[in-house]
Amino acid sequence: MLQHKHVLLGAGGGPLAWLAVEVLRALQRAGARVRVVLSAETEAFVPALTFQSLTSEEVIPADQPYGLLQGTAFRPLEALVRGLDALVVVPATPALLAKLATACADEPLVRAALLHRGLTVVAFPGKAPAYQHPLVQHNLRRLREAGMVLYEQAEPALPEGEEAAWSLDPAALVQEVAACLQEASALAGKVVLVTAGPTQEPIDPVRHISNRSSGKTGFAIAELAQRRGARVVLVTGPTHLEAPPGVECVRVRTALEMREAVLAHAPAAHVVIKTAAVADFRPKAVATHKVKKDEAAVVIELERNPDILAELGAQKGERILVGFAAETQDLLRHAQEKLQKKHLDFIVANDVTDPTLGFASDFNRVRILHASGQVEELPTMSKKQLAACILDRVQALLAQKARS
Ligand code: CTP
Repeated sequence: MLQHKHVLLGAGGGPLAWLAVEVLRALQRAGARVRVVLSAETEAFVPALTFQSLTSEEVIPADQPYGLLQGTAFRPLEALVRGLDALVVVPATPALLAKLATACADEPLVRAALLHRGLTVVAFPGKAPAYQHPLVQHNLRRLREAGMVLYEQAEPALPEGEEAAWSLDPAALVQEVAACLQEASALAGKVVLVTAGPTQEPIDPVRHISNRSSGKTGFAIAELAQRRGARVVLVTGPTHLEAPPGVECVRVRTALEMREAVLAHAPAAHVVIKTAAVADFRPKAVATHKVKKDEAAVVIELERNPDILAELGAQKGERILVGFAAETQDLLRHAQEKLQKKHLDFIVANDVTDPTLGFASDFNRVRILHASGQVEELPTMSKKQLAACILDRVQALLAQKARS
């Protein structure tokens, strides 16, 4: 599973430190070549010799943040982490999480995390009480934002909240590392353009026409595409969401601004995924000053916005185009029409009448209509899971194109 992979195992401390030894053995069983770096807390629980006797590589002690001194020769840490496929930290204590989250690089494990640009998986007993503290949660958020994979085996709350009762399955962790490594290269070399959120069409300086789109699905797709190795451009209307790490985020307001940004980035894109809920109409004239309520009734004359996706469809070329259809009636018929009219590879159709799903919710239930005529009905799932389903299908299409 991990043949030819180089893994640096960051051994944590605390009562669960022995788990690092189990994970080391599991990584080796999966075929990985493993070097161990000790944290400041490790040796109080597991001696360096235990790790040394199990690996053919020299163990990096906690008191040598800049590298290994071997006799008179010095091997800098930079050289030791070069060519590394993954850094796996286990078990990450709250102290170690804090050091990682604040780049407090006074020990080699943390310095290695700063030097290593690839996959970093951090495993810890997230259900234990200390980890629930807002400060630890804050640090975990920072690590997630920095692109690290947080691994806390899904399990019910620990009995009595006992940290020592955490049962990490080393084989499952190794499987996660292998899956992440495979995932990290699935879209390598591809440029993915994603649009998200609503657009706002101004009426006057303080009012606009818009819709309830939250942008969550588009942001989830952009984040995952980046994690799968693509260069991602995210063109988004106004949302409260933070740009995912490593994604080029272009913030726009109106449909016309979105069109300009999309057309500027489309030529370089292999894949365009349009989740944005673009306003179809805009006020014909925008009042320079706030419209006053003196008049009994106000008529706002609207004019059509360009259909950005239809424009892209008209010049599709080899590009993969994915659209979304938000419908309140005749879901399949309307989605089918959009699929054909806009020359899409597939369209993700959702019924937006269910208040528990879609728009502001974290969940959605959709159908995917393919250009081939196939219709898939997906179960209710989180928007992150939906992002994975969509990218899996995009990858299948890319692979199909590469073969033909
Ligand atoms: N879309 C677009 N530009 C527009 C309108 C829609 O690019 N001016 C894209 C959306 O991003 C989405 C797809 O087209 O991927 C379908 O959007 P939707 O609002 O469901 O449908 P419309 O084509 O606008 O048709 P209608 O509003 O009549 O349902």
